Amino acid sequence: MSDYVRVTGVKRENYDTMTVSFRWNAKAVPGQFIMVRTRDSEEIPMSLSGVGETKSITVKNIGPSTAKLHELKEGDVIGIRGPYGNGYTLDPDKKYLVVAGGVGTASVMPAAEITGSDLIIGARTDKDVILLDRAKEYTDNVWVSTDDGSMGFHGNAVQLMREKLAQVRYGCVIACGPPIMLKFLFLACQELNVECQLSLERHMKCGAGVCGCCVIDGLRVCKDGPVFTGEQVSKMEEFGKVRRDECGRIIRK
Ligand SMILES: Cc1cc2nc3c(=O)[nH]c(=O)nc-3n(C[C@H](O)[C@H](O)[C@H](O)COP(=O)(O)OP(=O)(O)OC[C@H]3O[C@@H](n4cnc5c(N)ncnc54)[C@H](O)[C@@H]3O)c2cc1C
Ligand code: FES
Repeated sequence: MSDYVRVTGVKRENYDTMTVSFRWNAKAVPGQFIMVRTRDSEEIPMSLSGVGETKSITVKNIGPSTAKLHELKEGDVIGIRGPYGNGYTLDPDKKYLVVAGGVGTASVMPAAEITGSDLIIGARTDKDVILLDRAKEYTDNVWVSTDDGSMGFHGNAVQLMREKLAQVRYGCVIACGPPIMLKFLFLACQELNVECQLSLERHMKCGAGVCGCCVIDGLRVCKDGPVFTGEQVSKMEEFGKVRRDECGRIIRK
């Protein structure tokens, strides 16, 4: 059943992404997500980019439902269910390197802030970078990579991660981003023998472990994940090879 909450703020992050804030007293941990809908949109999964009493989602406009979320104004009402999923495992004695790709930055930002971790934000161009101001509020160790070199390191987030791992000994890498980034990040962590936790994305319908739409190698991304350890990922035959469409059918890459 949905809770109905009022939007307390909207903030444009860049040309296609905005953050929507709302007060909701449910307990949530970094890495969890909600199912969200407006009066006239489908219900879709969104990571919580803020997990305090005031919570937030950071939405990239890519289709009909995310476009409706982009129309929201302060005072509007949204329906939400959750929070769902397991979230990141955060050990206060461990030094984390957090690696974010694109709108995946929304998922990892609360974990990065709470642990005060070093952070890499990867994007296609300087116009696609999000949440950099927020990261700069808690750390000086935030580095940007852009594919076209328009800001920060010229290259992708995994190449920059390799440089940082060669300089500093991190206990674990936490990451969320596009499937191709996660695939190469996972391979690099295996090669360099560094622990990792990856937040995976799949089409979701129920969000609560019932419909089977989000299954990867027998694990439900919405309930057993979305965060999986490197060890779990190493046993997934589907990881980086196939994905499922909105009906749960396998699409080979
Ligand atoms: C656990 C989880 C957390 C997420 N967190 C965020 C977030 O913090 N911010 C954010 O902007 N988005 C997030 N997403 C993705 C978001 O749910 C989709 O962008 C949204 O459902 C698209 O709906 P739409 O109607 O706007 O576009 P659609 O018309 O449904 O999709 C537009 C295009 O994107 C593809 N697409 C849509 N959803 C997915 C998906 N889950 N995986 C792969 N391809 C997809 C479609 O195939 C289509 O080509 C998350 C997804 C999951 C599963
Ligand atoms: S979305 Fe239904 S089981 Fe995961």
